[in-house]
Amino acid sequence: MPLSLQGKVAIITGSTAGIGKAGAIGFAREGAKVVVSGRNRQRGEAVVDAIKKQGGEASFIPADMLAVAEIERLIEKAVNTYGRLDVFWHNAGIVGPDNVEDITEEVYDNALAVHLKAAVFGAKFAVPQIRKVGGGSILFTSSVAGLKQASYSMTYSLAKTGLVMLAKKLAVDLAGDNIRVNCVCPGRVETEMRIAIAGEKAKELGISPEEWVKRDIQRIPLGRYVTEQEVIEAALFLVSDKAASITGVALPIDGGFLAV
Ligand SMILES: NC(=O)c1ccc[n+]([C@@H]2O[C@H](COP(=O)([O-])OP(=O)(O)OC[C@H]3O[C@@H](n4cnc5c(N)ncnc54)[C@H](OP(=O)(O)O)[C@@H]3O)[C@@H](O)[C@H]2O)c1
Repeated sequence: MPLSLQGKVAIITGSTAGIGKAGAIGFAREGAKVVVSGRNRQRGEAVVDAIKKQGGEASFIPADMLAVAEIERLIEKAVNTYGRLDVFWHNAGIVGPDNVEDITEEVYDNALAVHLKAAVFGAKFAVPQIRKVGGGSILFTSSVAGLKQASYSMTYSLAKTGLVMLAKKLAVDLAGDNIRVNCVCPGRVETEMRIAIAGEKAKELGISPEEWVKRDIQRIPLGRYVTEQEVIEAALFLVSDKAASITGVALPIDGGFLAV
């Protein structure tokens, strides 16, 4: 059985840590040449080393997703490095507590830019490259917060909802080019982002982060957090030919969180 991404080139934004890092390692294991990206060079190069140690191929290309010029350069450099682009996965993200009364313009602009504006411009520059190779996949990391409002952060929910609609819009517009566009919508995944949220939430309630996580898990029918690997399995499926008929979907990987 051939590897599902053999011969393909994939860019994963926000792959210096967490879900994206696991994605870079997983995509490389499936045969893809992976462009690891983020702002932290040391972490990015460590991911590349890990991939090379397992016999895969990867390069680190730094880019700040808040800067459109850097997004354009990332895609240009990726194509210069590997000669083609098949998969663009915009996964980079941030989260901080906010709501309508304490929102500042800076918090709003950063949240919407890193998730949504970067996805729009990432797609703008990736599409012509993916079209050149006869089609491929665009994937966005949305969230359960893109399908159900999140009490923790208004801007996060807005941006993640925007990604779901962007995937539908692009799925229709790009279907004729054989470019499929989908979202993964993780529930709770134990990464640095999740640990930070647990810390903030616990502080609000005057309990320990461990106690908050215990209570949080009670809201998940399967009774545990999702693993990074489980998100990667879904991402791999969506970008691979196994999902050749699937476009415009937002797939929850959430242990049943949204079903409640
Ligand atoms: N963890 C969860 O429970 C969960 C649930 C649902 C959805 N998600 C989503 O999953 C994605 C990954 O989250 P994670 O939990 O893996 O978070 P994480 O461990 O905090 O990693 C975040 C990644 O995003 C990158 N990043 C942040 N700001 C960036 C910027 N301005 N430019 C370029 N890269 C940037 C970081 O790289 P650098 O620091 O190197 O820039 C890092 O690689 C995010 O979109 C998040 O919203 C997470």
